[in-house]
Amino acid sequence: MTPEEARSQIQNLTEKIHYYNHQYYQKDRSEISDLEFDKLLNQLIKLETQYPLLKKEDSPSQRVGGTFTKDFPTVKHQYPMLSLGNTYSEEDLREFDKRIKKILEEEGFDLATLEYICELKFDGVSISLRYEQGVLKQGITRGDGTQGDEITANVKTIRSIPLNVTASDAPAQFEVRGEIFMPNTVFAQLNQEREEEGKELYANPRNTASGTLKLQDSSEVARRKLDVYAYYLLGENLPFNTHEESVKALENWGFNISPTYQKCQSIEGVLAYIAHWENKRKTLPLETDGVVIKVNHYRQQEVLGFTSKSPRWAIAYKYKAENVATRLLDITYQVGRTGAVTPVAELEPVQLAGTTVKRASLHNANEIERLDVRVGDMVFVEKGGEIIPKVTGVDFEARAAESQALVYPTDCPECGTALLRKEGEAVHFCPNFRACPPQISGRIEHFVAKKAMNIDSLGGETINGLLKTGKIKDAADLYFLKYEDVLGLEFESYSEKKGEFSKRSMQPKSAKNLIDGVQKSKEQAFEKVLFALGIRFVGETVAKKLVKALKNLDNIQRASLEALVEIEDIGERIAQSIMEYFQDAENLAFVAKLQQAGLSFEQSEEENKQESTHLEGKTFVISGVFNQFGRDELKLKIEANGGKVVSSISKKLDFLLAGENMGPAKLEKAEKFDVKIISEDDFVKMLEG
Ligand code: IVH
Repeated sequence: MTPEEARSQIQNLTEKIHYYNHQYYQKDRSEISDLEFDKLLNQLIKLETQYPLLKKEDSPSQRVGGTFTKDFPTVKHQYPMLSLGNTYSEEDLREFDKRIKKILEEEGFDLATLEYICELKFDGVSISLRYEQGVLKQGITRGDGTQGDEITANVKTIRSIPLNVTASDAPAQFEVRGEIFMPNTVFAQLNQEREEEGKELYANPRNTASGTLKLQDSSEVARRKLDVYAYYLLGENLPFNTHEESVKALENWGFNISPTYQKCQSIEGVLAYIAHWENKRKTLPLETDGVVIKVNHYRQQEVLGFTSKSPRWAIAYKYKAENVATRLLDITYQVGRTGAVTPVAELEPVQLAGTTVKRASLHNANEIERLDVRVGDMVFVEKGGEIIPKVTGVDFEARAAESQALVYPTDCPECGTALLRKEGEAVHFCPNFRACPPQISGRIEHFVAKKAMNIDSLGGETINGLLKTGKIKDAADLYFLKYEDVLGLEFESYSEKKGEFSKRSMQPKSAKNLIDGVQKSKEQAFEKVLFALGIRFVGETVAKKLVKALKNLDNIQRASLEALVEIEDIGERIAQSIMEYFQDAENLAFVAKLQQAGLSFEQSEEENKQESTHLEGKTFVISGVFNQFGRDELKLKIEANGGKVVSSISKKLDFLLAGENMGPAKLEKAEKFDVKIISEDDFVKMLEG
């Protein structure tokens, strides 16, 4: 392909991807499948890697991340990012309305022209997006309002943020403010994964979104699926007269606007909007904590102006975090697949934020101690930013005189084994990995999960039925089940409605689906199989990285601790856990059974593609920050072209690949050993041979 052809192909792909993205995120229309979309994106990434000079600032390939930012530079906001005055009552809002009317009247406005725009107050992280000549140049956090952190590379991974705006009514320079958030479903899924990986759970979507935006590896940001709502346009000489017009323009330009906003002609209308959304907001895909009320006309906004902290033309009404008191009937203890024990508050059922709450997590023994909560207490339960209700306190005055402090169990409630608590860890766990029933069924549930072997014809109740009747002892036995084995299988099924268990038996159609699903799962790639094994701390990402680096099971089993920690993202704790897993005879027997069943234990040809042998036998140390590649990407590139990445500089090293901000110590060492130092551009030339 000539560079000219590459240029036109890149242009063509870029336009197509921008188009489908826009259809998907702004119009809710998928005109092509995810697979086809990824294909286009991968073609583009491939071309851009071959012709890095042709990669544009607004290329959709940046959505997948890849850059690595060490420190986020602090930059000054062009327009300060102010906050809003808060109110909690109708009275305050009527005051606000009066204040506004007084000023506008004094300035000679006809009060009949006063309009408010009501929007929900999204509970996320505010962001300033700066566009120049239609291209997204900078994404900056609020910081202290005057200056914030520049997190552009991370912001670009958010698919509902346009990388370019081509509309004819868009000014040459403008700034869009909005709220970046993590959708509730994404948050719940992320926490589920963390639970499976034995990691501590995140508290709420807002903090998680905020933490995600500060990650150094933008490809990880891309995986976290953040979203954004735009709510404010700024610029010199904007061609609009009202906030409403700006919001509509933003929508036309491709920004994501929450459809929940509404124009109100009076404070009564505003109050009705607040009442309308008080409960309904809980059906939205994100957390909201109030309503923002803005004067619609820009001429009126200008006259009202700002105080030193906030605009006089806008105010935030905050809903009260919902909180109820109820009785703590009991504390039960759930044992997960890793043996981690979670105390659960069993509550007298109570209505809270539109749902009946019967249970709430108490996290761990420390939390119970901190709250000093006892069975029989009246406790306060809150549903705020968090999705799972939590016990926030105890009504000590209502405590019965004979109440006894809680004694945390010393033995597993499921199997009686003495519980352990590792130093520095908050969670107790049951070490009876082999025989503790919920650990066995939990492991099988993990094995069949969507992101593992994806056997969706097999749910928790069937698994328990199979275990109880002795048809299986572990997940590997699933592959040796026959139709006759499962037909008519008895299992217990829980009805949420009736609140009780009933006996059911497996019908022919479900039996066939089950067997077919199990057989089909043999096609899952090695990384899924590795994740399915449920090795402690080996989540989806770690499994992927292991497979990329070591290719097959043999290599993983034989790898030393040193070799494992060489792999990106794998620290000592994970490496140790992998080593332990493969030192256990029963685990080895389990894996052997899976091999016998025909599951895949090596990376497929296609995933293992070799691009060239231009770097054959050469070793590289990567240091600093790069423009065209993320560090992960560089490593893959080097390996795909026959080279190897090592971590330390020695006499034997061939090349030090130096990016920006490389540490002086590395440079000194490379010079001492006479190692050749190459730039990113030199490297690209080497790739081309
Ligand atoms: S307008 C000058 N609209 O609330 C006014 N802010 O306390 C600019 N927020 O920092 C803000 N939803 O992070 C506006 N619909 C909305 C909002 C909203 C959430 C946040 C924003 C701001 C804070 C103000």
